[in-house]
Amino acid sequence: MEELEKFVSFLKLLGYEDVRLGTEEANLGSSVDELKRLEEEVKKCCKCRLCKTRTNVVFGEGDPETNLMFVGEAPGEQEDLQGRPFVGRAGQLLTRFLNLYGISRDRVYITNVVKCRPPNNRNPAPDEIEACWPYLEKQIELIAPNVILCLGAFAARTILNLPEKAAISKIRGKEQKIRVGEREISVIPTFHPAYLLRNRKGEPEFQKDLEKALKLAGFLNG
Ligand code: URA
Ligand code: SF4
Repeated sequence: MEELEKFVSFLKLLGYEDVRLGTEEANLGSSVDELKRLEEEVKKCCKCRLCKTRTNVVFGEGDPETNLMFVGEAPGEQEDLQGRPFVGRAGQLLTRFLNLYGISRDRVYITNVVKCRPPNNRNPAPDEIEACWPYLEKQIELIAPNVILCLGAFAARTILNLPEKAAISKIRGKEQKIRVGEREISVIPTFHPAYLLRNRKGEPEFQKDLEKALKLAGFLNG
């Protein structure tokens, strides 16, 4: 390896600027690093009004090389205080559902459409979603999952570019494909866990969608 690196330096000296060691590790290293750089950038972001009222930016967390991403709506009170996604009541429900299948949170990646809490948990406004979208898009590109489970209508509409009237009850459970760069990603919309806290009867459908996502991402057999 050392010899190879020396050879690459030698080629660069000769003016071949764009020589890279094409090993898997080198490539993975760079997207993980890039995700960390993006996080540092987003932590300083003030592209929309939500930066004035937030306590902490909630960038997202989990395995940056996972096959499965969860995307929620926006940080709530607990998330804003702790700077971590899905740690309040809805988050604890999500965590319990994952644990039911023997999967810990750190094996997937969890984030939101907007990275700062809207005051009083109001819905994120269209211009806030638009301002924040490039960060989620970049996260999807760098993590490059096979599957995205959209938690609630905001995530589904934003990622699938659906009209504002698209009802989650109509689109949930239906796998759709999106292209990000060279990749094709399966996107599955489902209910938001906060909705399940109020409507327990949605749980079987949520579980069905979660199982579908877990199977497609290779976490479950079948
Ligand atoms: N609801 C969300 O949409 N995201 C969180 O992180 C917490 C609650
Ligand atoms: Fe920036 Fe997104 Fe926070 Fe708005 S919500 S300030 S765009 S990080």
